[in-house]
Amino acid sequence: MIRIFSILAGLAFSFVLALSFVFEAIGTAKEGLPNTVESNFVEHPHALKLASDGFFGKWDKQQLQRGFAVYQGVCQNCHSLKFVAFRDLKALGYDDDEVKAIAKQYQVPAYNAATGEVKTQPGKPTDHFPPVVYGGKGAPPDLSLITKARHGGAPYVHALLMGYKDQQGYKNEKGLELLKAFPDAKTPEGLYFNPYFANLNIAMPPPLTADGQVTYAPGNPAATKDQMAQDIAAFLVWTAEPNLAERHQKGWPVVLFLLLATVLAYMAKRNVWADKH
Ligand code: HEC
Repeated sequence: MIRIFSILAGLAFSFVLALSFVFEAIGTAKEGLPNTVESNFVEHPHALKLASDGFFGKWDKQQLQRGFAVYQGVCQNCHSLKFVAFRDLKALGYDDDEVKAIAKQYQVPAYNAATGEVKTQPGKPTDHFPPVVYGGKGAPPDLSLITKARHGGAPYVHALLMGYKDQQGYKNEKGLELLKAFPDAKTPEGLYFNPYFANLNIAMPPPLTADGQVTYAPGNPAATKDQMAQDIAAFLVWTAEPNLAERHQKGWPVVLFLLLATVLAYMAKRNVWADKH
């Protein structure tokens, strides 16, 4: 008896589920896909090639150092990097003295256990990048993990930095003019139009405004806006996963071992099952 009830209950449940699916499908088919300003105008980041990509990826230390220079010269005015310790920068090719000198440029919070006082003091290699006080509009996120936290990763960061556009007369690929199609979508005062940002209007003022804004050490490519945007994107891949390249390198012996084990197992199988007269 109880079995019949449970079968009936199950059937009723499936029926309601199927019904709601059908109605939803009919509804969507009638209305079509949502036609919003975002669905028409948000752009997808274009591909960005980095040395750290893929299973053979390696860090391009020169590029990471340039990216760090962009962080220090530009982004650091607003964004923190709290998961990175100064000594981690050794992975970029800085030696102990250079790391010490970099740490000293920063004032880090220092807690005095005896008095409970919190003061600041020059950083040591073991300290992390300190919090950043920001007085402007919006809330700049910490950048340590941003290439993991945003769909699109490094290409997104690069595209976002290069993506500021004049909204007047802006058209999408299909030739649709934004302010004609959506007159209400005008970017509000204090925000900036950027079609790579999820809602098209971002509180971050364009950070990279001129070629040569950051000075690169001799022997590096020219600091064009695009180069700086690529370099900071590469650097933020490193901050988000500093052992990415090492992890990939460690994987190869395992793959080789498994291949060898497969061959051995196959040979053993041939041997064991061989037709021995
Ligand atoms: C003048 C301050 C300022 C500077 C300089 C600045 N940013 Fe921002 N940034 C912001 C603010 C504010 C936001 C939050 C924007 C929002 O949510 O609308 C932000 C957001 C971001 C975001 C997140 C976007 C998202 O998808 O949520 C990224 C990535 C970013 N900034 C990268 C950078 C990089 C890289 C630099 C240096 C080249 C930089 N920013 C320089 C203020 C700044």
